[in-house]
Amino acid sequence: MSENKEFESQVALVTAGGAGIGRAISLQLAREGARVVVSDINDEAGQETIRLIEEAGGTGAYHHVDVSQSGEVDSLIPFTLETFGRLDLCVNNAGVGAMPTAMEDVERKAWDRAMNITLTGTFLCMQAQLRHLHAQGSGSVVNIASLAGISATPELTPYGASKHGVVSLTRSAAIEYADKGVRVNAVAPGAIETAALASLPEESRRGYEQEIPMKRLGQVEDIAEATCFLLSERASFITGVVLRVDGGTEA
Ligand SMILES: NC(=O)c1ccc[n+]([C@@H]2O[C@H](COP(=O)([O-])OP(=O)(O)OC[C@H]3O[C@@H](n4cnc5c(N)ncnc54)[C@H](O)[C@@H]3O)[C@@H](O)[C@H]2O)c1
Repeated sequence: MSENKEFESQVALVTAGGAGIGRAISLQLAREGARVVVSDINDEAGQETIRLIEEAGGTGAYHHVDVSQSGEVDSLIPFTLETFGRLDLCVNNAGVGAMPTAMEDVERKAWDRAMNITLTGTFLCMQAQLRHLHAQGSGSVVNIASLAGISATPELTPYGASKHGVVSLTRSAAIEYADKGVRVNAVAPGAIETAALASLPEESRRGYEQEIPMKRLGQVEDIAEATCFLLSERASFITGVVLRVDGGTEA
């Protein structure tokens, strides 16, 4: 464990913490002293994140939650309070992509899936978290958005629309809770080297890299750093921002 214990005595909650960006954020929060509740729909993956947290000397607990199901989201805060006694830091990371499709060909099923998991899922989680953080009078929320929540996403309509919705939820909540001790921000990753990208042919990966001014893909740790900064007291006067972490792509 690192010496920097920014989140000592605090409790964090990360949705979709079983893989990629969510796992990296969970591990960094634990390294910085937080006790971390990891939720996911993939129980094996979520439990593996807890194993990695504990292996590094941290403390965590896994809880199965499909963010698109109200009944399951309802159990998230009670589980966290029963397990660790408090909740301070919330990361809404669950979101799903889809294969590129022309707008006129998008199937209703693909639209509903993006909306239900990425947008409604983020809303349901935020609502439960904000009720608790408002009553407590303190806390910090970070939503994982995307460049797709800021700019046009040709052929990725459901993803772009759902991520624009996540940005809207972030900004509205930031203002609603600004004078209640609760900050709400978003991180907008560019192309990040998660399993999906790593499995692409070398040529496609290089294509992505060439489009990025820094000529490299982002790493999950880049997103974890930005998220932990926004969650922390170092960002105490920052609320309502959508922080691009994209190697200069959108500049
Ligand atoms: N990887 C990128 O390049 C990139 C870029 C921009 C934004 N993002 C966003 O970052 C977030 C994480 O992406 P990633 O690439 O690390 O994902 P990933 O595909 O590596 O991991 C996704 C995790 O989400 C879980 N999950 C799926 N559906 C769920 C649900 N309904 N409820 C709870 N958990 C669920 C999966 O089990 C898995 O563990 C997403 O919101 C994604 O849109 C990723």
